[in-house]
Amino acid sequence: MFEVKSSRRVDDYIAAALISKKEAQEETLAANTRAGLPAIDVSPPQGKLLHLLACAIGARRILEIGTLGGYSTIWLARAVGEGGKVVTFEVDARHAEVARANIAREGMGARVDLRVGAALDLLPQLEAERAGSFDLAFIDADKPNNAAYFAYALKMSRPGALIIVDNVVREGAVADPSQTDGGAVGARALFEAVAAETRVEATAVQTVGAKGWDGFLIARVI
Ligand code: SAH
Ligand code: DHB
Ligand code: MG
Repeated sequence: MFEVKSSRRVDDYIAAALISKKEAQEETLAANTRAGLPAIDVSPPQGKLLHLLACAIGARRILEIGTLGGYSTIWLARAVGEGGKVVTFEVDARHAEVARANIAREGMGARVDLRVGAALDLLPQLEAERAGSFDLAFIDADKPNNAAYFAYALKMSRPGALIIVDNVVREGAVADPSQTDGGAVGARALFEAVAAETRVEATAVQTVGAKGWDGFLIARVI
């Protein structure tokens, strides 16, 4: 069994080596802590991974579900470039307020369209606006709705787009049938939906580090 403590030390090592102070968003994380937000943002190496994947496919339009304080949003917004857009959904008005301030401080205000409300209530409106097609979707909100979010992301994505879903492993709960909490059940429903979907090719990778043992599902729209 790996040790969470030493895997956190490795995340710190990776960040110190490869993530510059300018990139690190220390003020965003400090503001989130001050506001009492839960520290469930992606880790710094994971945030940079999202950024690199978005850059690699030349993403200009990104959909995010689950903003929290905007930490992942800012990593993604940096990838879309001037004139690019990240549409991000957040149900909690207080989280959204903190996110707005963080996004503005990082100079990303013009690139981020932050919408407050339950994502499943707001997604039909986004679809009606014909705001697709997205180059990348990052799904990181309430886990029981993951399969529904995936279906929306797929409908609104172009061929070649990436759909990335956070927290699909949950300390192994996904593969343990005795675990019946919403996170594990939601993750399994997501895997089943993706497996049955012929319009994507997909994998999932487990992750360890500052955020414990979890994982990303990554699907590419064919
Ligand atoms: N992506 C963020 C972390 C998101 S945490 C980052 O890495 O920085 C999950 C967020 O999803 C929380 O802020 C929570 O309030 C929000 N959320 C939960 N249910 C939601 C829903 N139905 N619609 C939109 N957001 C939701
Ligand atoms: C939780 C949510 C997340 O998005 C995450 O990355 C970690 C934990 C949670 O709701 O517990
Ligand atoms: Mg998450």
